Amino acid sequence: MNEERGKFSKLGFILAAAGSAVGLGNLWRFPFEVGDNGGGLFVLIYIIAIAAIAIPVLMAEVSLGRYTGKNPVGAILTIRPGSPWKWVGYLGVASGFMILSFYSVVAGQTVGYFCKAVSGGFRDMTPETAEAMYTGFTGHSVAQVALLLLFILLTVFVVSRGVAGGIERCSKILMPVLLGILVLLLVRSLTLEGASLGVAFYLKPDWSALTPKLVIAAMGQAFFSMSLGMGTMITYGSYVSKKDSIPGSSGWIALFDTFIAILAGFIIFPAIFSQGMDPAQGSGIMFNVLPVLFAKMPGGMVFGALFFLLLSIAALTSTISILEVPVAYFIDEKGWKRKYAAYIIGGMAFLIGVPSALSNGGVAFFSNLPGIHMGFADLWNKVWGSYSLSIGAFFIALFVGYVWKTSNALNEIRTGTRRFPLGGLWAFSVRFMAPVLILAILVISFL
Ligand code: PFF
Repeated sequence: MNEERGKFSKLGFILAAAGSAVGLGNLWRFPFEVGDNGGGLFVLIYIIAIAAIAIPVLMAEVSLGRYTGKNPVGAILTIRPGSPWKWVGYLGVASGFMILSFYSVVAGQTVGYFCKAVSGGFRDMTPETAEAMYTGFTGHSVAQVALLLLFILLTVFVVSRGVAGGIERCSKILMPVLLGILVLLLVRSLTLEGASLGVAFYLKPDWSALTPKLVIAAMGQAFFSMSLGMGTMITYGSYVSKKDSIPGSSGWIALFDTFIAILAGFIIFPAIFSQGMDPAQGSGIMFNVLPVLFAKMPGGMVFGALFFLLLSIAALTSTISILEVPVAYFIDEKGWKRKYAAYIIGGMAFLIGVPSALSNGGVAFFSNLPGIHMGFADLWNKVWGSYSLSIGAFFIALFVGYVWKTSNALNEIRTGTRRFPLGGLWAFSVRFMAPVLILAILVISFL
């Protein structure tokens, strides 16, 4: 065993994988995608995508990782040496770089909001002052780049210390406390005047909103939120012990991740509607509405600070898992030292992240090109966060279903599990349902 790699302890995998899954995807990205895509219908399709596609793909990734003990490229090459399937692994490594670059920008912003909360910045917030604060903050180029750098350095620091030492420890205390604050926020939001309008928006599917764009966004969000389609769960699977149950852990991870996202919607939308704010306001929605909510809570300044601190840590346990994919690749395949790999790749992600850090403040990069009407960070979020992960998940399902073969994968899945009666259903999803649905949605949305 390569000592640069490491292993998770028994509970460590569930904690670390849940730490990877739960992050900005749940509290920042999910609400803004729901808001931009008209509410309830998006939520419905998201839940279907989680159950029918994402959970089976999660089990496929983890079993492939545990069986081979490798990063995505190495895992594929172990099963099929020298084959072009390795490009699926390279796509994952590339997605890791790119997602890390814009994700860390938003993560840096949560650190910035933690500082604002500590210095009493949320006092007497109204929708107008909250929006002005967000615009001013994201327009401050130096602060944005500095916070991006800070966040990447934090990520690099943990990853350079290795999986068991750094990654596991971070995930342990965080979740219960975060959940506690979310429940408080939930109660405050649901008891605001006019909250029921937000609940209706969130839960009532409006079928006239059904478009390919909505479906691809919901499916992409399912992959993004569960950290799938780029080999994160292959990589984390490679640190899992043969004694752990893959179906059991996968079920818990999916349940927990989906629960937090759904909860986030129940916090954001009642507050949005009760304050007369626009639900389709894009990626700033969380930053615009939560300070208003905290201002209306007893002890809101303390809870606000605690919330943004915990969200920053939740984002950190996700960026760690994103950086771990390219780092594991360079350790396994190129023989790099863990520390060296973490610093080099982190440094590159920082450089690629700078345009995203500047774009929220209105610095145009591609947004002037015909057909592209969004800032750099939003564009990256779509391209890498939705499309690239969907394409990656499509090929991973095909690879496990037809090249490695579901019978071999099921042997691995059943190792460490007492009973797994759903093997046939799982194989059906990986071989047929997931690839057909993903391909159909991708093709339709390109047409
Ligand atoms: N799942 C993380 C979140 O919801 O915040 C983001 C993420 C992590 C995406 C790891 C992709 C990934 F490979």
